[in-house]
Amino acid sequence: MKYQKLLSSGSIGGLTLKNRIVLAAMGSNYAGADGHATEKLQAYYEERAKGGVGLIILETSAVSWPAGASMPYMLGFSKDEFIPDLQSLTNRVHKHGAKIAAQLNHSGKVAQEDTIAGRLIPVPSIPDKQRSDLMPLLSSAELSTFIKGAGPDGKGPRYEVLSTTLIKVEVQHFAAAAKRAKQAGFDAVEIHAGHGYLISSFLSPAVNKRTDDYGGSTENRSRLLVEIIQAVRAEVGQHFPILVRLDAKEYRIDNGIVLDDFLITAKLAEQAGADALDISAYGNSSKSIAFTEAPLVHEPGGFIPFARLAKKAVSIPIIAVGRIELQQGENGLAAGDFDFVAMGRKLLADPDLPNKVDAGTTGLIRPCIYCYICVSQIFINQPMKCAVNASLGNEYLDKNIIYSTALQKKTLVIGSGPSGMEAARLLALRGHRVSIWEKDKDLGGTVRVAALAYEPNWRLISYLKNSLDDLGVDIILNKKATAEQIAAEAPDQVIIATGAIRTAPDIKGNELRHVFDGEQLRGLLFGSDAQVIKKLSLFEQVMLTCGRWSQLLRHIGALRLLSRLWLPMAKKITIIGGDLVGLELAEFLVARGRKVQVLEPSPTLGINLSIVRRSQLIHQLKEHGAELFTRCEISEITQSGVQYQMDGKAHISACGQVIIAMGAEENLSLYEQIGALGLPVKVIGDCAEVGYIHGAIQTAREAVMSL
Ligand SMILES: Cc1cc2nc3c(=O)[nH]c(=O)nc-3n(C[C@H](O)[C@H](O)[C@H](O)COP(=O)(O)O)c2cc1C
Ligand code: SF4
Repeated sequence: MKYQKLLSSGSIGGLTLKNRIVLAAMGSNYAGADGHATEKLQAYYEERAKGGVGLIILETSAVSWPAGASMPYMLGFSKDEFIPDLQSLTNRVHKHGAKIAAQLNHSGKVAQEDTIAGRLIPVPSIPDKQRSDLMPLLSSAELSTFIKGAGPDGKGPRYEVLSTTLIKVEVQHFAAAAKRAKQAGFDAVEIHAGHGYLISSFLSPAVNKRTDDYGGSTENRSRLLVEIIQAVRAEVGQHFPILVRLDAKEYRIDNGIVLDDFLITAKLAEQAGADALDISAYGNSSKSIAFTEAPLVHEPGGFIPFARLAKKAVSIPIIAVGRIELQQGENGLAAGDFDFVAMGRKLLADPDLPNKVDAGTTGLIRPCIYCYICVSQIFINQPMKCAVNASLGNEYLDKNIIYSTALQKKTLVIGSGPSGMEAARLLALRGHRVSIWEKDKDLGGTVRVAALAYEPNWRLISYLKNSLDDLGVDIILNKKATAEQIAAEAPDQVIIATGAIRTAPDIKGNELRHVFDGEQLRGLLFGSDAQVIKKLSLFEQVMLTCGRWSQLLRHIGALRLLSRLWLPMAKKITIIGGDLVGLELAEFLVARGRKVQVLEPSPTLGINLSIVRRSQLIHQLKEHGAELFTRCEISEITQSGVQYQMDGKAHISACGQVIIAMGAEENLSLYEQIGALGLPVKVIGDCAEVGYIHGAIQTAREAVMSL
């Protein structure tokens, strides 16, 4: 068996888990405004239990709710009245053989609900004021979601430095919450001592400036955590597992937690009675890039070295987390680097991941594409959703279930971008006879270009292709659909997913030889558009033709690699359009040594990227020397560059090549022609409304549900 270690049972304290795969805690905003576990929240967790995970760690929950809450819809553990719904949740999880731990927390200085309500926020000492670099990257609509964050008097958070008496009160809140968790049928609790929340603000020397028994040395800063573990233990008894989530390190925080502190705290937590440690990290929340360093590490397996260190320092089980791929998890378990692998985003994207690993069908696992939409939703106080899994958060809706149909229909899907492939997949799951027609010689549509720029997108295409093969969908390539051909095929129903029209806006000079629009760029990169290739030098034309003959240009992985060695593009490139496509293209070009300027007409860059991915990408582009400008009014493209107006002044962006990465528009022409034939037809994806991968997956599901 390939993932023997991941699938083997393990134990934490006296608790036996059927495998080593753990659902990492993820705040969902699915709870009620009254702190209760709603049906939506319960169904979401039940789906993950059904998917075969060994242990679920419940999302951050407020031990003193409504105080200490960081989200508007956050679970409370502060009153007995919460117990019946929590009991229902644990029953539903247990039905599928999974175990569940409650994550107990007080959000401390991050408790935005306290600020909004005007409540005092408990802190070890008054934190320094920090100016966030995220705000300038947000649109006015996004900014409006933060308005309440200034509190009732508009002055922001009001802090209360905890006296030793008040510290004891906070400790008791954790103990009482743990008791309720046990009463509600939880199998364990996890004390959240990371991510800038109350306990970690005591652990961090950057915030904790106390001079009493709770400040100074690492031992003193760990005292609150130790007292909480001991108080929880006293309440839940010897045989109830206590997990502790710890940060190994704080990124971009002057005088923050360092590895030496972490290892001392880890040992103290073990001595105080913790049964396992869950090893995360934290980044300065006012530096937007820090968030993708920690806790939502972008680098695959980025926290594994920390788990390995913890494993050497203590003898209790270690849970590793942070973009851990299956093989990396298996290797780490085999090497004894850690004992369990927690996964967050992967299990949002596909709750059935553990069952698919068990069944040996890993090619059918829907991959996370690391677009950060899920967590960006939490940033703007909205319920969590997932770009690739439209069922997330809708598990409770009956209409969301794919029922197989008794009435099998001949169904034609036109276009094989993510929307077409997802629709074909769902229709085949329902039991229809499905064919998909693609005009190119490969599946994927424009996401092939997106995958060239951002590798995780490629995994989505591979998964969808594997799924179509598995379900026996008839895939017909090199077939450009016309209304006549569709009518001749006589399908019972048709889905149109032909993508947007990408033509350059009417800018003077856009016909010049060194200017490419979206469609032309695709033809250039894949060597598939003879007209565009003619725009290149003779040498470049020969190279591309060789690439096309050798079929190399059809393989995204090879193309990504080869384009690092040779790319038929100038050294200095100006991209007109700084939304998702323009920025990801800039990332691709910068990584290939090109000097890039991006000119965006609107006030906001990357508006169709999630807030978190946007800030990560913008930061990285700037770090690699790309120049990004907003509010640019393009005047003309000339032989030597792009002339534009900005701040009332004329500028020129000198370059050897210009890419126009804007101008995508819906394309309803085929839809209208088919409608005229009287066939039942749905239009989805970018050809209905430009919505990128998230919109594609969402509209595919809606269309299939409504057929
Ligand atoms: C939407 C979202 C919400 C999260 N909320 C929490 C939380 O409530 N408590 C917590 O300890 N970590 C939280 N995290 C961090 C995850 O537990 C996990 O450590 C992180 O996502 C890295 O793991 P992954 O790469 O497998 O997603 C959250 C992550 C995401 C994506
Ligand atoms: S929203 Fe994006 S990052 Fe989050 S789980 Fe889904 S695919 Fe992954």
